[in-house]
Amino acid sequence: MRLQDKIALVTGAAGGIGSVTARCFAREGATVILVDIDLEACSRVCDDIAQNIGQASCSGVDLTSEKQVVELFSNIRRDYGRLDIVVNIAGGDCEPAASVESIDMERAMKNLDMNLKSCMLCCREAAKIMKPQAYGRIVNMSSLVWRGSPNQFSYSASKGGIFAFTRSLALALGGFNITVNALAPALVEVDAFTRVLGPERWQALAKASAERYPLGRIATPEDVAKAALFLASDDAAFITGQLLEISGGARL
Ligand SMILES: NC(=O)c1ccc[n+]([C@@H]2O[C@H](COP(=O)([O-])OP(=O)(O)OC[C@H]3O[C@@H](n4cnc5c(N)ncnc54)[C@H](O)[C@@H]3O)[C@@H](O)[C@H]2O)c1
Repeated sequence: MRLQDKIALVTGAAGGIGSVTARCFAREGATVILVDIDLEACSRVCDDIAQNIGQASCSGVDLTSEKQVVELFSNIRRDYGRLDIVVNIAGGDCEPAASVESIDMERAMKNLDMNLKSCMLCCREAAKIMKPQAYGRIVNMSSLVWRGSPNQFSYSASKGGIFAFTRSLALALGGFNITVNALAPALVEVDAFTRVLGPERWQALAKASAERYPLGRIATPEDVAKAALFLASDDAAFITGQLLEISGGARL
C-alpha cells in the first residue's frame, strides 16, 4: 500500500472527485480526514470508508472562513499530532458562462474565495504542522481552465492563481522536504453537472468534450484520484511545483 500509516486531509470530500479520492487514499492505507461544507454528505462518505475500507474521520467546515480553518488544523494537531498529506479539492464555479461585460463581482469574489482563499488558508495551516516534522505532500486542485476560457473569468483566475501559489509554496517549502503540486483536470464526470445543468445539457456537453479530446472520452473521478495518489505518494518525492494536466490530451 502506497500511503501506509500516512495521515491525509482531503477537502471537498463530499463531492464527486473528493469522495473518490478519499476512498482511494483509504484503500492505500492512509488515515483519511474528510472535510466539506456539506457535513451530511461528507459523513455518508466517511461512514462508508470506516465500515468498508479503513480509518476515517470527518468535519463540516466552511473553508472560506479563516476561523474555521484554523480550528480544523488545531483539532488535527490535537487528535493526530501530525499531518502528512493535504489534498485541497474543495471548490467549484458559481459564475459559469458569463460574458466579460456581465462579470458579477459578488460571484467572482465568491469564486476566488471558494477556490483560491480556501486553498491558501489550508496550505498556510498545513505548513505550520509539516515544517517542524520535515515531511509533507500538498496537492492543490487547479483546472485545465487555468489556461484561459472565454466565459469563465473568475474561475479561470482562481485556478491560475492556485497554480502560481503552488509554485511559490514549492519554492518556500522544498527545504523542509515538503512537495507542493497541482492537478489540472479537463471535464470530469461528476453528479454536480447533472444537478446544475440537467441531464440533457450535461450529456450534450460531455459528448462534445469527449469528441474534442484525443483520448475520446472525458475524465472519471478515478483518473483524478490516481493522479492525486501519485503526487501524494513517495513515488513523486522529487517532483514539486508542477501542474499535472489530466486532460486526455485536450488543448495539446
Ligand atoms: N468536475 C470537473 O470537470 C472539474 C474539472 C477541473 C477541476 N475541477 C475542480 O475539482 C474540484 C472538485 O470538483 P467536483 O467536480 O468534484 O465538484 P463537486 O461539486 O462534486 O465537489 C466540490 C465539493 O467542494 C465542497 N465545497 C465547496 N465550497 C466549499 C467550502 N467553502 N468549504 C468546504 N467545502 C466546500 C462542496 O460542498 C463539494 O462537496 C473543484 O475544485 C473543481 O473546481 C473539477
